[in-house]
Amino acid sequence: MAEQTSAPRKRILSGIQPTGTPTLGNYVGAVRNWAALQADHDCLYMVADLHTLTVRNEPAVLRRRTREMAALLLAAGIDPKEHVVFVQSHVPAHTQLSWVLGCYTQFGELSRMTQFKDKSAKHPDNINGGLFTYPVLMAADILIYNADLVPVGQDQTQHVELARDIAGRFNSIYGPTLTVPEGYTLALGAKIQSLAEPTKKMSKSDPNANSFVLMTDDKDTIVRKFKRAVTDSDGQVRFDKEAKPGVSNLMTIYSVFTGKDMAAIEAEFAGRGYGDFKLAVAEVTADGLAPIQAEYARILADKRYVDGVLADGAARAARIADRTVRKVYRKVGLLQLEA
Ligand code: TRP
Repeated sequence: MAEQTSAPRKRILSGIQPTGTPTLGNYVGAVRNWAALQADHDCLYMVADLHTLTVRNEPAVLRRRTREMAALLLAAGIDPKEHVVFVQSHVPAHTQLSWVLGCYTQFGELSRMTQFKDKSAKHPDNINGGLFTYPVLMAADILIYNADLVPVGQDQTQHVELARDIAGRFNSIYGPTLTVPEGYTLALGAKIQSLAEPTKKMSKSDPNANSFVLMTDDKDTIVRKFKRAVTDSDGQVRFDKEAKPGVSNLMTIYSVFTGKDMAAIEAEFAGRGYGDFKLAVAEVTADGLAPIQAEYARILADKRYVDGVLADGAARAARIADRTVRKVYRKVGLLQLEA
């Protein structure tokens, strides 16, 4: 057994937007890795509902999806007693810190964010202020807990970089105040691609329902979707993200659920057709997801339990977050009344 050390465990903060019914991509790419990190870190995991307001949502749907995403975190085995599971809007300190940090972030920096540029190109009719300042709120989410590590997908690393810059800048003006966090890029399966267009990320907002696997899909549906997955015409199961994005994505998924490495998978399917391969991926995925899906359904059916976890999580998160806001307010010179 590993020896117990007395070094304090590193603190992790991460967030996931409740943008739809959770997918295989959310589970494999993010939440499953979050669960794995619990063993040797202190973790705060947040459903980032405020971030979704940058696009228009149906209010009732957003509320439902927020609970669904929380249920997925719990179904994946994140322990809400040992760690903190909460909803961003339940901790008002995030938006308080966000205002202050926004005053230490340059227009030019925010203009250079690739996600902002992509999203504003995609939705030219709704380039709102929230879309622009989104990375400041995300910096506040991270810095408010003095997080050491921030596990994120590739598409968020630029935002974590910005959080580091903002923290460094604040500290250089006011003295050590905020922990400068490190990004933590997840190794395997950090990015699960669309089954229909494997050069794009798997997303539930894709109009093609065959492009994603939902946490609520049954085995038949999963098999059908994998059978239709786009591959290529050379017929070889070989890992090459550039030349064979579809096959490589399926191999990644297979690897996640079997623990086999790419060489072993290539050997296993050498000389066999894609039909066999796709079916095998579908089966390990369906079987691997089944226990999580069952937990997800069970937990989601118990709204009071989910809400109780979130209330407790918000209270514990707020204790840390409020302390940071008070400290930052004092440093920048906001008047605090003597009790
Ligand atoms: N912006 C992240 C995403 O869309 C979600 C998020 C919000 C987040 N706040 C965060 C991730 C803080 C990590 C840390 O994926």
